[in-house]
Amino acid sequence: MSNAERRRLWRDICVFDGLCTLPEPMAVITEGDRVASLVAMRDFDEASAQGCQEMGRGGVMTPGLVDCHTHLVFGGSRADEFEARLEGVSYEEIARRGGGILSTVTATREASEEALFAAARPRLEALIADGVTTVEIKSGYGLTVEDELKMLRVARRLGEALPVRVVTTLLGAHALPPEYRDDSDGYIRLVCEEMIPAAAAEGLADAVDVFCEKIAFSVAQCQRVFEAAMAHGLPIKAHAEQLSNLGGTAMAARHGALSADHIEYLDEAGIAAMREAGSVAVILPGAFHILRETQLPPIAALREAGVPMAVATDANPGSSPLFMPTLMLNLACTLFRLTPQEALVGMTAHGATALGFKGEGRIQEDATADLCVWDVDTPAALAYAVQPGRLRQRLFQGELTHVV
Ligand code: NIG
Ligand code: FE
Repeated sequence: MSNAERRRLWRDICVFDGLCTLPEPMAVITEGDRVASLVAMRDFDEASAQGCQEMGRGGVMTPGLVDCHTHLVFGGSRADEFEARLEGVSYEEIARRGGGILSTVTATREASEEALFAAARPRLEALIADGVTTVEIKSGYGLTVEDELKMLRVARRLGEALPVRVVTTLLGAHALPPEYRDDSDGYIRLVCEEMIPAAAAEGLADAVDVFCEKIAFSVAQCQRVFEAAMAHGLPIKAHAEQLSNLGGTAMAARHGALSADHIEYLDEAGIAAMREAGSVAVILPGAFHILRETQLPPIAALREAGVPMAVATDANPGSSPLFMPTLMLNLACTLFRLTPQEALVGMTAHGATALGFKGEGRIQEDATADLCVWDVDTPAALAYAVQPGRLRQRLFQGELTHVV
């Protein structure tokens, strides 16, 4: 039977639908690549089981996880920097000494497209094994037109090789490359006038990101990047308010940013601008944890303002060498005081919104059958325990890609 005709049935399953946990045990039927029906067990008509492949009973079904912020493509390792930070050297200090992001830039420039692909593939496989069906991958360690395009090509190829939807983001304005040391505006010109047009012309970028921070680029420079992105029809987002409050989030929101990410130092004005624009707050507890930060993002104020919060891994070689989305659910709760339910919404429905897929990351009739079935008895258990191996089944666009 072709996948387009195949009907699959789950019985007696607890469904977290992307926004909430449904109150009763459900029966779920998929047909081809869509969710065909979602009904409470007590309303289930046995006639609709006709021709269905029985997929089992019990457990918890969630939408496929959406990891809306990663830097999965990179060369080299930064274990030595991890050790230096444990001895007290700060992330900023390492960056000022030319290490940090720039040390990954050197290793990434030296690596061939093939080598970058081979290194990134197992990282992405780790995310997939933990339930991810949509992942965003940024460039940002090339910092020349060719090296940024090389990274984006690798990201696109990963999406072709593996059963996962890859969304690419050009992060040319991530750090100032050494050859532009005294000409930060010159580098921003390169990003705006060459990198963005080239990535757009080749269809390699789905969005454009910036790092708005004292150790990276100013609000005015990031605004120029956004204007260039918008002129090419590309949506925008920002790493902002991570280490200090520069006002990058408010500027990004005024330009209609999909999201502002990190935002530990976000203030009331920034929250108001995000609410107004409908931007998503992407919180990244992995980077907070690894950098041993103490400034908490303003979770209660974001919640009160009704700004949607997404949770992502920020998987990268420096600030978040963590390739396990369900660990982020746990850290979002323990470090940032999200409820397990909020954390799950953050990695499903709100994660999708942060990528411009509003209405996705949900289980409902006619939704794409990107689904996970977990060996747990309640959705909160996914945030409670950090335990690989609980993914029982994973469907990507209706295809069963994982079964234990
Ligand atoms: O999201 N904040 C800036 N960029 C990355 C870190 C990248 C790195 O340290 O290599 C982040 O944390
Ligand atoms: Fe990041």
